[in-house]
Amino acid sequence: MAAATKGTVTNLLEKLNLASKETGVPPKEPSKEELDELRKRYEEHKQEQVFTFWDELKVPEKAALFEQLSGVDPKYINEITHRALHPPEKDQKSKEDKKSEDDEDPEKDEEAEDEKKKEAQEFEPLPESASASLLDSKTEDLQSWYDAGLKLIAESKVAVILMAGGQGTRLGSSDPKGCFNIGLPSAKSLFQLQGERIVKLQLLAQKKHEKESVIVPWYIMTSGPTRKPTEKFFQEHNYFGLPKENVLIFEQGVLPCISNDGKILLESKSKIAVAPDGNGGIYQALLTSSVRTDMRDRGIEHVHAYCVDNCLVKVADPTFIGFAAEKKASIATKVVRKRNAKESVGLILLKHGKPDVVEYSEIDKETAEAKDSKNNDLLKFRAANIVNHYYSFKFLESIEEWVHKLPHHVARKKIPYCDLENGDTVKPEKPNGIKLELFVFDVFPLLKLEEFACLEVKREDEFSPLKNASGTGEDDPETSKKDILSQGARWVQAAGATVESEKPDLEVEVSPLVSYGGEGLEFVSGKNIKGPAVLEKEN
Ligand code: UTP
Repeated sequence: MAAATKGTVTNLLEKLNLASKETGVPPKEPSKEELDELRKRYEEHKQEQVFTFWDELKVPEKAALFEQLSGVDPKYINEITHRALHPPEKDQKSKEDKKSEDDEDPEKDEEAEDEKKKEAQEFEPLPESASASLLDSKTEDLQSWYDAGLKLIAESKVAVILMAGGQGTRLGSSDPKGCFNIGLPSAKSLFQLQGERIVKLQLLAQKKHEKESVIVPWYIMTSGPTRKPTEKFFQEHNYFGLPKENVLIFEQGVLPCISNDGKILLESKSKIAVAPDGNGGIYQALLTSSVRTDMRDRGIEHVHAYCVDNCLVKVADPTFIGFAAEKKASIATKVVRKRNAKESVGLILLKHGKPDVVEYSEIDKETAEAKDSKNNDLLKFRAANIVNHYYSFKFLESIEEWVHKLPHHVARKKIPYCDLENGDTVKPEKPNGIKLELFVFDVFPLLKLEEFACLEVKREDEFSPLKNASGTGEDDPETSKKDILSQGARWVQAAGATVESEKPDLEVEVSPLVSYGGEGLEFVSGKNIKGPAVLEKEN
């Protein structure tokens, strides 16, 4: 029921965006009866402040606000806000999005540490039956997963979903993150790197399996703020060489932003403040956007979903697809090894016997520092979450059955709002409200352990997220650039080239159109490459 309501919220808000522009019908002021009815609904749920400036609005503004408010169910919003702020007992600590902009409360620290310790008794690392590692798997296993995955790709049974609906506030660029140029010699954007990897993978599968053509459809989830600029960027760059009909841009839902005292915030006199509903909005969006229908029509059986900000992402990685398919997993996830006990990463583990993600802040020191009983050099809990997932299409066919169970999380943010006293826009200095977000991995505990699999991959080969603005020194454009260029240097060296550089770091950019994952570089053998260099073509 709740999910259906939320779907309606999304649909109506989408309609609102389209109505005036696409229908061309002049906006109409709602009748007195219509307005009274809507106002009553908001009054019943103590959200009538959204009508504060109604009487002074012009007709188009009234029409727009009426549409927007009609698409929101204040009862549902109050319910999910309450649940997010007061999660059920057993989840007490899962609670707030780690990106919240508020300060920690030091007073609670000691008590919280004891609580965490108690909770940690329910944690276990994933068993070996559900996990594997590229760091120590047998070469024949790796080859067999790769071959199996490439075959599925050649059969056009594999699709990719890119989660690109985030607002990238920490990076601070006005464009969607995928458009960002991380400073590579080629000046390629994240979207371009990812698109070219799909182009190359299709060719590899096509060649190996002697197919006329291979299609890996790319579904790009955007949100209100990122949709239009993303569409424009793809058009301007000719879909990076992919056929336009195989790149499908869709939109996730939004939810109203809420003040610290539970009220829906106005962004302006005639608009409520809304924000994308988190990367967990992917599931509802797959339904409302008809992406899932499109996948079904194309005969898709395996889906890779990943985040836009990882410049090293192996899009539709054959090894991962082959691994997950062999395990017959409903969901599989890639992880990297946690660097040390203090690293601030979420962990994939078993909690109450179910696969789950536990945030670093939920783990007590002793548990974080515990060693693997079989290898004292390794942490017991080391599977760091990188939000890089496999889904069987069969599992995505069941979204309706569980999507309403996903909890909303609270992210405390500085949300620009309209002052109800005077109508002025205020840009707060401190967090003044909350955004409600769904997390894509909250679906894990809904699975049985045997439906879940986890693959540890090499961080330097597969994970370098772009989160922060230039100069931060961590997960910023400079670290992204460095990680791509060092990977290129490692690849050409492994293929028999020598690399020279005047700088301490070796810098070789290997175009994804030349090599997807280090293969096919025999032509550099014996060559001396002077960095920074770009290998854009095979000669
Ligand atoms: P983050 O949670 O890191 O958010 O997203 P962000 O938008 O990139 O950056 P900040 O927090 O505002 O600085 C992880 C991934 O989830 C996607 C993002 O686009 C990114 O790929 N995401 C996030 C969505 O697709 N939708 C959302 O509502 C939120």
